Amino acid sequence: MNDFKRREFIKLSALGFAGIALQLNSISAYAQKANAHLGKWNANTELNWDAFLEKLSQIAKTQHEFPWDQNVYTQQVKQLLLQCNFPEFEKVRKAMDSYENRNPNMFEATGLHKEIDFQVGLFQFEKGEYISHHDHPDMTGVINVVSGNALAKNYSIEELLPETREVVSNGRKEIMQKVTIRETSNTNVSRGDVSILTADEGNIHSIMPNDFTQLIDVFTPAYGRDTKTIWYTVNEDDYYEGREKIFEAEYAKEGLSQVDTILLGTDVLSRYVGLYKINDESFIKIELSGQNLILERTKSLEGSGRRMNLLPYEQSKFWIEGQEVRCEFEMKGENNPAGLSIHFKGSNISATKIK
Ligand SMILES: [Fe+2]
Repeated sequence: MNDFKRREFIKLSALGFAGIALQLNSISAYAQKANAHLGKWNANTELNWDAFLEKLSQIAKTQHEFPWDQNVYTQQVKQLLLQCNFPEFEKVRKAMDSYENRNPNMFEATGLHKEIDFQVGLFQFEKGEYISHHDHPDMTGVINVVSGNALAKNYSIEELLPETREVVSNGRKEIMQKVTIRETSNTNVSRGDVSILTADEGNIHSIMPNDFTQLIDVFTPAYGRDTKTIWYTVNEDDYYEGREKIFEAEYAKEGLSQVDTILLGTDVLSRYVGLYKINDESFIKIELSGQNLILERTKSLEGSGRRMNLLPYEQSKFWIEGQEVRCEFEMKGENNPAGLSIHFKGSNISATKIK
């Protein structure tokens, strides 16, 4: 039984034994899980989704050991990823089949599995949907290219430079900190390749898809509410002071930024109240609560989500309190919004007012 592979079931299914195949498939999943516990896999065993998660949750526990060897761990995750034929897994297949380029200029992300210790996601990019330099604080990331190809660059922080400067950007004062970063990897990754980052090595990366590209990522531990990603502006034109692979970069220091809010009366704020549609599965409700405008993102018209304060910095322009996210209303005439757009790190999502 332990030699059964999903391929065999697909053959059966093709012969018209779909019902039987489905049952066998779940037996196979069970058998693989059981074999995982008995340590009966080798590097050539082709894994199914359940067995993959089973093994991943086992090895992810090593993060609680001290010291945790992240190089060993990320190599283990790489090995696991390479034992999986993700497009064959029903969960992944569904996410791939239902792909739509909902957010122009931005990748589409689908969470496949999340627990505190790790998370697995599918990221699908149109050609050119660039992700600029950002870090993954205290995490490891193992990124498997399932289709397409992308230029992946990784960096580590080299040193904090003494220079800071104050800028005002979209009504918000920011203290920009200069640093130097060292390029640790600069490779074109294509199908079957794996890109790795750890907490100490190559933790900052940028990704430029050269084609329609699909990635399966494993992050360890999972993102939490308090995870604060830092986004960097990197001068990639020249090496810093001519030092090979060292670049100057800058980021907004967390905690030192503040919004210069303007005062808007409830008569003005109430203009923006309404229901806005991003797509069939994503809506934004804008409500007035006392003197505050509240934004709530939901998955359905009736649904509810996390409520966030909007801080006005210009007429029709707001920051979401405590987040690196802005919300701008597009007005038709002075009083009526036609829609809104959400801006974060160079990407936008648009929503049309429907109520
Ligand atoms: Fe990333």
